Amino acid sequence: METDKINIPQHIAIIMDGNGRWATNKGFSRDKGHTEGRESAKEMVRTCAKIGVKNLTLFAFSSENWKRPKLEIELLMGLLHNSLITELKELQKNNIRLKTIGDTSKLPLVVRKFLEKVCDQTKNNDLMTLTLALSYGSRDEIINSVKEIADKVKNNIISVEKIDESLINQHLYTRNLPDVDLMIRTSGEKRISNFLLWQSAYAELYFSDKLWPDFKSEHLLKAIEDYKSRERRFGKTSQQII
Ligand code: FPP
Repeated sequence: METDKINIPQHIAIIMDGNGRWATNKGFSRDKGHTEGRESAKEMVRTCAKIGVKNLTLFAFSSENWKRPKLEIELLMGLLHNSLITELKELQKNNIRLKTIGDTSKLPLVVRKFLEKVCDQTKNNDLMTLTLALSYGSRDEIINSVKEIADKVKNNIISVEKIDESLINQHLYTRNLPDVDLMIRTSGEKRISNFLLWQSAYAELYFSDKLWPDFKSEHLLKAIEDYKSRERRFGKTSQQII
C-alpha cells in the first residue's frame, strides 16, 4: 500500500499496546512480546521517515509502568539500551533526530547517559524527529509546567497576563514539537492513558485491533489514509474549511 505526500500528518503519536497479550496468545513469555514490539517500532520509524512524516512520538514507557514486575522493567530498559546502541548509526544515516519526553532522571544511569549521547549526536538531523516517551505521564508534565510558570510569576520574570497557550506549550516536555495530528492506539483498547493530553486537543484518534507486534507498515498506512479522509474543522464549520 502506498500513500501520497499530500495531507500527511505532521505529527503521529502511537500508544504501542498489546505486546504482553501477543506473547501470551502465542504461548511465549512477555519478553518475547516486547522484543517483537521493538521490530514494529523500527518499522514505524522507517515508514514514517520514508513517507514524509516530520514527527513521530512513541509511548515506550509510562510513568505508571514502573509498577510492573522488576524483571519486566529490567528487560524493557535493556531493550531500550540495546536499541540505542544498535540504531544510532541508522538514525544518522537516515537523518533522524532522537528526542525524549518524560522524567528520564528515573531511568538507569547507563541508559540515561546513552540516551543523552544519541540525542546530542543526532540533534542536527532534520528529516524527521523521533521522540521516545520514557517514564512519561501527561498529567505530571502539565503539573511540571504549571510549577515552572508559577515560579517565574513569583520571581517577577513573567506576569500572570502573559500566561497563554503558547507559554504553556513552551513549558511542556514537548516544547518545539507541533501538536499531534494523528494518535494511534493498538490492541483494541480505546483510551488515551495519560499520553499527550494537552498536545492531542485536536488530534484525530485511530484505534486498531491489532496487537502491537502485529502492527506493520500496511496498518500504519491504512491509519494515515483514514486520517486523510477526515475533515478537521478545529471548531469551524465545513463551509469555512472549504
Ligand atoms: C505495551 O504492551 C508496551 C509497552 C509497555 C512497552 C513498549 C515497548 C516496546 C514496543 C519495545 C521497545 C521499544 C523501543 C522503542 C525500544 P503491554 O506490555 O502493556 O501489553 P499488554 O497490554 O498486552 O500486557
